Amino acid sequence: MSLYSLIRRIGSSGFGYGSTAEEVSAGLDLTGKCILVTGGNSGIGRKTVRVLTMRGATVLTTARSESKARIARRRFGKRAIPLICELSDPNSIQACVDNIKAGGHKLDAIIANAGVMAIPECETVHGYERHFFTNHLGHFMLVTGLLDLLKDDGRVVMVSSSAHKRAPKDGIQFARLDGEGWYGPWEAYGHSKLANLLFAKELAKRFAGTKRVAVAVHPGVIRTNLIRHMKWWVKPMMVLMSALVLKSVSEGAATQVYAAVHPDGAGFNGEYLKDCKITQPSDNACDPAMAERLWVESERIAAQFE
Ligand SMILES: NC(=O)c1ccc[n+]([C@@H]2O[C@H](COP(=O)([O-])OP(=O)(O)OC[C@H]3O[C@@H](n4cnc5c(N)ncnc54)[C@H](OP(=O)(O)O)[C@@H]3O)[C@@H](O)[C@H]2O)c1
Repeated sequence: MSLYSLIRRIGSSGFGYGSTAEEVSAGLDLTGKCILVTGGNSGIGRKTVRVLTMRGATVLTTARSESKARIARRRFGKRAIPLICELSDPNSIQACVDNIKAGGHKLDAIIANAGVMAIPECETVHGYERHFFTNHLGHFMLVTGLLDLLKDDGRVVMVSSSAHKRAPKDGIQFARLDGEGWYGPWEAYGHSKLANLLFAKELAKRFAGTKRVAVAVHPGVIRTNLIRHMKWWVKPMMVLMSALVLKSVSEGAATQVYAAVHPDGAGFNGEYLKDCKITQPSDNACDPAMAERLWVESERIAAQFE
């Protein structure tokens, strides 16, 4: 816990900046629940898997290699079911969907947590900018591929970021999804996180009138492996900042755990949460036309790989 979290906790009521994943799930018995967490081998995803299994849930936890996936089983025991899912590879995503279907699982929640940040130079996969493909398109294919398995009151939690505000000013770059002409490490990360938010908004619209819920969350700023692509001096700086102001990993996992399993979460369809509270995203993230267009375009791209 940083000094700042400690100060924020004093006098606060309910859940907030300094709440941990353990606290927001305290007293919940998740026995019989089945939850999918992507990127469960590292950072806040790993903590999310730990806490959900501790509360009794079965957690399908993805990693991008077999060795990383197997670690989950060793760490969290039989309640963690390891799966392989490389989000930049449509074949791997489809295999993951098929494995989950073959396992006969019904899903209470999907936490789309995996992500990559601030790659220094523009890279493309299958012709699309890498952050956009991994963080958005990969999750789009995975989540839409699994909607049949989502329970009637199931929840989809998209792990976005306040960095969605760093996306290009006019939002999703539909004409230049390869990053050409606008790429910057933070613009591209923000663009993909805006896409996560718009996907949650459009999914929520499609869930309207049901008990299903789609939300997006900002976990806070936490020192994790996410900074792997950043300059060498960022690491020591993050150690210092972590002690002073950043969230701990458990505090970082709190909002997605809260959104996925807390009874309050049933009322959050279409919302964007930060510190376990509803907050306002950017104007672009609230643009229904952009959300709908992104869905249509993502469907079109996904169809190319079928
Ligand atoms: N940490 C923060 O301050 C912060 C702030 C705002 C939002 N977020 C969001 O929180 C989420 C979790 O991040 P974290 O901080 O826990 O980072 P992390 O420790 O780096 O974890 C990211 C996870 O995503 C996986 N991943 C990366 N590229 C992938 C790919 N191509 N296919 C499949 N999985 C892939 C990683 O797998 P490998 O271990 O194999 O690379 C890892 O499991 C991300 O969506 C991030 O954008 C984090």
